[in-house]
Amino acid sequence: MAHLFNRNILLGISGGIAAYKSAELVRQLRERGATVRVIMTRGAREFITPLTLQALSGNPVHTELLDTEAELGMSHIELARWADLLLIAPATADLLARLASGRADDLLTTVALATAAPLLLAPAMNQQMWRDPATAANMDTLRSRGCQVVGPASGEQACGDVGPGRMEDPQAIAAAAAGLFENGLLAGKRVVITAGPTREALDPVRYISNHSSGKMGYALAQAAIDAGAQTTLVSGPVNLAAPSHARLLPVESASQMLDQCLQLLPECDIFIACAAVADYRPASVEQQKIKKGPEQITLQLVRNPDIVATVAASEPRPFTVGFAAETTALLAHAQDKMLRKGLDMIVANDVSDRSIGFNSDNNEATVLWPGGEQALPLTGKGAMARMIVELIAKRLDSQ
Ligand code: PMT
Repeated sequence: MAHLFNRNILLGISGGIAAYKSAELVRQLRERGATVRVIMTRGAREFITPLTLQALSGNPVHTELLDTEAELGMSHIELARWADLLLIAPATADLLARLASGRADDLLTTVALATAAPLLLAPAMNQQMWRDPATAANMDTLRSRGCQVVGPASGEQACGDVGPGRMEDPQAIAAAAAGLFENGLLAGKRVVITAGPTREALDPVRYISNHSSGKMGYALAQAAIDAGAQTTLVSGPVNLAAPSHARLLPVESASQMLDQCLQLLPECDIFIACAAVADYRPASVEQQKIKKGPEQITLQLVRNPDIVATVAASEPRPFTVGFAAETTALLAHAQDKMLRKGLDMIVANDVSDRSIGFNSDNNEATVLWPGGEQALPLTGKGAMARMIVELIAKRLDSQ
């Protein structure tokens, strides 16, 4: 099934009896992974309520062009920019005529003019109206401007007529929408990425942590999204905004990160462990702030669970990728970690070099897998993440 992960679909509904089928269409689009916003014309609201579409889409429904409050929320220009696709279903004869003549007399037609997104139309009307030369001419005009069309289907109509004009089935419309997008290297895959540091509490105000900024993990999330994957970031505390379309699950400690990752396992095809997880945590967390006292105190630490090794040993297991942050014998240590932790691939980076690795914008790495390796030259973390995603896709293909 072609997917719509990471796609913003703006669904325009105009006033025809087929508007009731748009509720199912919203469900179908979301099932394929799309984020859906709905614009309804005044006519559409005679057939189905905005509340229904709001509940199904999970977003407020847009209805008015000249409404200051609505424009404050998300203006028609913002809606036009937000959309990756403007899908109009049903598209009535009147709506097609207004689109063909370039009218901007309500929110839907205005957004249609203002958007650079492709336009997909699902016409629906009485068979005689569909056959009318005026409608045929409008369709020719719209097609010649690059509009895509799905349907109409033929059959018995609500008015009792039989012929072409029924809105295509929601499933077929959602499939047509998905078919308009190129599918990326990880299309339809569910990717979980750990990123950033963990914090291991000593007392209510202090913790043990490290210098991971999250930049590498967040860049991987962006690259996975660009490759068409449904992407979840399990992130320790960082000062970065999550890429749009990523599901962000913030955690603090290694145990919280492990719990979160294990919960996600049933919906994970690829697991990438980029987080700098603390190997040890304090044996006990003081309930009150530790007071200054003797010249020396001793901290007792205990081993944290190994998240990536636990994931790699789970059943069924995702394709599991680890990182190796090393300061000596980079490749030997990375190879050893890959075997010990049971990984499908490991990205080895030298963190003794301050210009790459922790908290830098750049990285240089060697990716290892059983029976192969590839050096990735010094570059920005965005470009590095795209190369890693390409290698993961290749390895998955060859399995
Ligand atoms: O966040 P940035 O500032 O962009 O920096 C990026 C980075 C240097 C943190 C990143 O490129 C990197 O190397 N991440 C792995 C850091 C690390 O903890 O490496 P490690 O060699 O100690 O661990 C090996 C692997 O086991 C890693 O995939 C790690 O996520 C995982 N691990 C480690 C310990 C543990 N308890 N659980 C784990 O899952």
